[in-house]
Amino acid sequence: MSLKKKLNTLVEILGQAKIHSPLKTCRFINEKNTLTLPIPKELLDENDQGPYSIVCEEAGPRQLLYFDPPKTKCAIMTCGGLCPGINDVIRSIVMTCYHNYNVASVVGIRYGLQGLIPKYGHPLVELDPSTVSNIHEFGGTILGSSRGHQSPEEIVDSLERLNINILFMIGGDGTMKAAGAIYKEIKKRKLKLSVIGIPKTIDNDIYLVSQTFGFDTAVEKATEAIRCAHTEAIGAPNGIGMVKLMGRESGFIAAQATLALKEVNFVLIPEVPFNIHGENGFLSHLEKRILSRGHAVVVVAEGAGQDLFDNLGTDASGNKKLGDICAVLREEIKKYFTSKNVPYTLKFIDPSYIIRSIPANANDRVYCGFLGQHAVHAGMSGKTNMLVSKLQDRYIYLPISIVTQKRRKLNPNSNYWSAVLSSTGQPLNME
Ligand code: F6P
Repeated sequence: MSLKKKLNTLVEILGQAKIHSPLKTCRFINEKNTLTLPIPKELLDENDQGPYSIVCEEAGPRQLLYFDPPKTKCAIMTCGGLCPGINDVIRSIVMTCYHNYNVASVVGIRYGLQGLIPKYGHPLVELDPSTVSNIHEFGGTILGSSRGHQSPEEIVDSLERLNINILFMIGGDGTMKAAGAIYKEIKKRKLKLSVIGIPKTIDNDIYLVSQTFGFDTAVEKATEAIRCAHTEAIGAPNGIGMVKLMGRESGFIAAQATLALKEVNFVLIPEVPFNIHGENGFLSHLEKRILSRGHAVVVVAEGAGQDLFDNLGTDASGNKKLGDICAVLREEIKKYFTSKNVPYTLKFIDPSYIIRSIPANANDRVYCGFLGQHAVHAGMSGKTNMLVSKLQDRYIYLPISIVTQKRRKLNPNSNYWSAVLSSTGQPLNME
């Protein structure tokens, strides 16, 4: 991999940082020392021509702050679908704000962007160490969430009325785009208000983020469903166990859970088109597997095979609405096996919301703790229009616009996908 094509990603600041940090025991990051990190092929999609390395700012505490801690007011909001670990990030932000910086206050905005739009009437919540101390024990978000566009002008009006200095936005691709729009409105009004993003999506599809928080927990939970599907499949003659997993445009949960459980025989993901019928189609390979081994496990990412459906429009977040691929597969399996006179039983498991609404596992808790801390360090030092990412095991700060320019997809030409295929034994393509 050539490191020639570099992407420079220096983050914007509100103004000169002049106030000495109150942090005592830490390694301050020298702003002048940037990191150059290679971007592995696994993080690029199939047609991606790079960049192959990134010059970026290391995350962490700065010696000089832009905001004066005892006069600083922060706000936190959570947007989009749930994912394990959101409460851990909220807790970490609040604890860092109070225990490390001793800020004036932190408020929680209810139900995402709606919480800053007066017509919805959602009240604010005061957040402090006592109100957040136990929240990591629970899945979901204590603040609630919502999808959908809201006016950046109205949002910034509310932020001005509340005298907020730092807004922390926890959310996915759509939320990061909204954060960019809010930042633009803030800039237009020449306000000194920092917008810091913390990337969140169970689909793990944010560009230049190696792995989003909650993904590890979701995969672990997904393996339980696959294990059950396998048990059902081997418990009946010609048993087929089918599991549907989240993954609207990227099949990372399905692929990773498949790697974790070697019992999966077919994994279908959005990035790899397939035919249902025909000599090399899915049904023909499934039949061979059933006739030779007497059972099969099929894992399907919800966004797989969407070329089989008409355009169904978009949801409130602007995401493509999906056709029910598992319903189609079940119907076609029924017709095909009946026509071939091959008896079978099919057990279908859809654990979608179960895998994303549980509390985070130990790995994700550790990760969420760091994300929250680094978000606060960034905000206090006056950085804005940026998000906290973890790339190549390094925590870094990236401008929001770089991360929202495309979605992260699984690269079917990567070693990672080859490993998935060798685990399932399915053909390279079923087209
Ligand atoms: O945020 C991504 C995601 O988890 C997708 O995988 C899934 O399709 C979608 O959200 C469903 O979320 P909801 O039903 O809350 O809109």
